[in-house]
Amino acid sequence: MSGRFITFEGIDGAGKSTHIPWFAQRLRELGVDVVVTREPGGTPLAEKLRDLLLHEPMSVEAETLLMFAARREHLDGLIRPALARGAWVVCDRFTDSTFAYQGGGRGVPLRYIEALETWVHADLQPHRSYLFDLPAALAARRRAAARDADRFEAEDLAFFERVRGGYLQRVREQPSRFVLVDSTQPISAVKKLLEESITNI
Ligand code: TYD
Repeated sequence: MSGRFITFEGIDGAGKSTHIPWFAQRLRELGVDVVVTREPGGTPLAEKLRDLLLHEPMSVEAETLLMFAARREHLDGLIRPALARGAWVVCDRFTDSTFAYQGGGRGVPLRYIEALETWVHADLQPHRSYLFDLPAALAARRRAAARDADRFEAEDLAFFERVRGGYLQRVREQPSRFVLVDSTQPISAVKKLLEESITNI
């Protein structure tokens, strides 16, 4: 049997990093072979690209292309081999992030992102994507309490509202793949929703 590909999405500060370790642990308790990974990143070269993407100023075109370069490395070096041996891959961000951040946030035409998606992974889509959704202002307050800002996190509220809109458009286009998580809820309520959703992945 081939594995399952599960992605976690949302604007910075939405709560993915709180829930991913717990979610992976829950799957392991159920006897699943789980690989947790992230984008951009996940292989040595893709992690180097991540460092550039998060800290070096660059054009939006270079940013978009480097996201997909890192993604292709990650798919070939980690995601596809793991799925082939039957593991479940839990990935912190994937191509929906590019539609939301570079498309919605930065205004890259969606047809270019669609073309790159087709080239880089036409045959592979997540089986399940969790979108952690909340207003940009609330996410910014949570981020400010938690950490220093990288190049994306330094953007303003209007940018993050556009990113949020980009995500919600993806949910409208592919509703069966997504579980929309209301991230304004307490952690316990989100955990309960995730727990209940595991049975039908
Ligand atoms: P993230 O791992 O959420 O950052 P952190 O380590 O602070 O939790 O994501 C890194 C950043 O990369 C995030 O701000 C969103 C951005 N990003 C894009 O803009 N496009 C993409 O395709 C991906 C995968 C990430």
